[in-house]
Amino acid sequence: MNDNKPKILVTGGSGFIGSHLVKKLLEAGFKVYFIDIKSSSEVKINKNAVFCKGSILDEKFLDRFFKKNKIDVVMHLAALIRVDESSLKPKLYFENNVKGSICLLEAMRKAKIDKIAFASSAAVYGDSIYGLTKKQFEEILKAYSDNYGISSISFRIFNASGADPSGEFKERHNPETHLIPNVLKLLKEDKPIIVFGNDYNTKDGTCVRDYVHVSDICDAFIAAIPRLSGYKIYDISSGNKYSVKEIISLCSEILQKKAKILVKPKRKGDASYLIGNNKKIKSDLKWKPKYGIKEIISHAINALF
Ligand code: UFG
Repeated sequence: MNDNKPKILVTGGSGFIGSHLVKKLLEAGFKVYFIDIKSSSEVKINKNAVFCKGSILDEKFLDRFFKKNKIDVVMHLAALIRVDESSLKPKLYFENNVKGSICLLEAMRKAKIDKIAFASSAAVYGDSIYGLTKKQFEEILKAYSDNYGISSISFRIFNASGADPSGEFKERHNPETHLIPNVLKLLKEDKPIIVFGNDYNTKDGTCVRDYVHVSDICDAFIAAIPRLSGYKIYDISSGNKYSVKEIISLCSEILQKKAKILVKPKRKGDASYLIGNNKKIKSDLKWKPKYGIKEIISHAINALF
């Protein structure tokens, strides 16, 4: 660890992207702190980082944390992330994703921390409560940049997938709702794969997404550190697009298992098509994705089984 390097706080550091990000920041020599409402017991590598259990909604916890630990940059990943759940429980999503994020900004302001990288979402291009919470906080960040001098980069992250290439981390969501880990598990167990809707207005009737390797997402956050000034927004996008059916075929090919498909009704809030544009992030942050869809699936397999 280099003492001159910025000290980074990752909120949501026990989550899927967060745990990978903590690991990569440590490897890059940063002093890393992370907070989460969940414990970090599953994440071996993170014992090299400073962990504090607590919620972004708990102002006193945040004030104590920032008083004790001198942080230079906040990477804000703590959020609820389920599109379908957000339309059933809008209050919960506004509270955690908007109110909690404002609490965090206020605690930063009191502690005179003026840099934040925010895990926004491709869902801002769709039409869900979850996407709305992310869009609202992007706008709040703009206001905090214009009026309080807090610099920010909002990353509109497309479909985070894959796993640490070393196979160290498991894909960790409970319950698991994401396509790739579910398809892989069901193929292994010779069970039918559920496809939510096959009459979307897309090439094969199933939803099309832009799958980005979690490790590439972490690289974008690291690339942001020296460029935090003013207010910026970037898509973190692979530039590729795959339908649900194409993902199932690829997983089936890689695992050499025949897929059985069960079509169920559409999930609430799912957009038919969510594809990013990585031109701006490539030119400004000199970022480009290292991994393609086959590596995403292979690394997910290594981490799952
Ligand atoms: N799907 C299935 N069967 C499954 C699981 C998913 O058909 O068992 C479909 C979904 O309906 C969707 C697609 O596969 O069309 C991808 O679904 P995911 O749940 O893997 O991902 P989402 O696109 O719904 O959402 C994810 C994150 C969000 C983020 C979004 C950005 O969960 O937080 O990507 O694109 F905002």
